[in-house]
Amino acid sequence: MPGANDARNSRLVKFRNLELFELYASAAKEVYVRLFDQRETLMETKRALEGYIDKLIDGIEENNRAVFEILATVEFGNRFVSHSLKTTIMSIIIGKQLRFPEGKLFAVGSAAFLHDIGKARSDNPFLNSYFGAIDDPRDLETNHPIIGASIVSEYLGYGADIAQGVRNHHEQLDGSGFPRGLNGSSISLMDRVVFTANFIDNLLYRTDYSGIETVSMAIRHAFERFPGKFDPDIKSVLLHFTEKPSVSKRRFERTVITLAASYRRWDSGGNFSCRILDISGSGARIRCKDTMVTGTMLYLNFALSNVMTFNDIVCKVVRRIPDENGYVYGLEVEDKTGAIQQKIDRYVQRYVINQR
Ligand SMILES: [Fe+2]
Repeated sequence: MPGANDARNSRLVKFRNLELFELYASAAKEVYVRLFDQRETLMETKRALEGYIDKLIDGIEENNRAVFEILATVEFGNRFVSHSLKTTIMSIIIGKQLRFPEGKLFAVGSAAFLHDIGKARSDNPFLNSYFGAIDDPRDLETNHPIIGASIVSEYLGYGADIAQGVRNHHEQLDGSGFPRGLNGSSISLMDRVVFTANFIDNLLYRTDYSGIETVSMAIRHAFERFPGKFDPDIKSVLLHFTEKPSVSKRRFERTVITLAASYRRWDSGGNFSCRILDISGSGARIRCKDTMVTGTMLYLNFALSNVMTFNDIVCKVVRRIPDENGYVYGLEVEDKTGAIQQKIDRYVQRYVINQR
């Protein structure tokens, strides 16, 4: 049966991508620890950073829709590291699509990985020597591209292209960016790639529930809403990712687990703790004290391992059953990429193994 095999293969591909992302995320954290803690010589730190970027370039396939869509669903525990990694993955995918040669791919990957390093706060002497003069957080927001570029060129000793990618990651084609308000040809293609990847990941992380839940939606939203900000070639390679229909909605077997979690309500915005009694890619049951009517939208947050967290999984209340300590609610869960289900499968496997 070719159909069944296809489904299993696509599930395996998605599973592999998620595993890969988890590995990339842990390694990214390690690189930042080395960079900030300064336990090694600068040479060793740089070697680790460069080896990591090379590994990402080798590992990321140029036309990998599944990796792209997974970026919308998973969030590594530390937002700084998560954002840095996701911006890097998107930049490398775009760079590969634009047929960047090896050296340029390395430059765009490094600039993307380090783009917000000017924002990082740390007690270590090397960052303080750059951050020392900044007291007002608003100054840091405006100046972090310049601070970052000086860390990258003066401290890390990287070439002008990487430093420029960091300096220009908020510059926009229509001149409305910062810190210098550059426009048109004064922004290189590489800088435009980092800007675009950064912009898309920030759209995905928005917590205003604007309805952007997939990378395809973020791409379309960015290009429709802000047509003048993006490079036409980058637009066309990214739109290519949005052309094919997204993974169809599937019903999964429910898995019984008891998991501490929290949720935020669409209507009141309050944060509440709950227990997840069972969850799958299509539904969940939670127990809590809060009173909600059928149709209430909420956003579940939970962690399934030490590194992976699920943020703002969109759910709708479809059933309410009074319980001695409150209510048990039946929820409908959106899992367009199947990523939630895969993580749950793995969590349960580990859980079952540990219980034996
Ligand atoms: Fe930034």
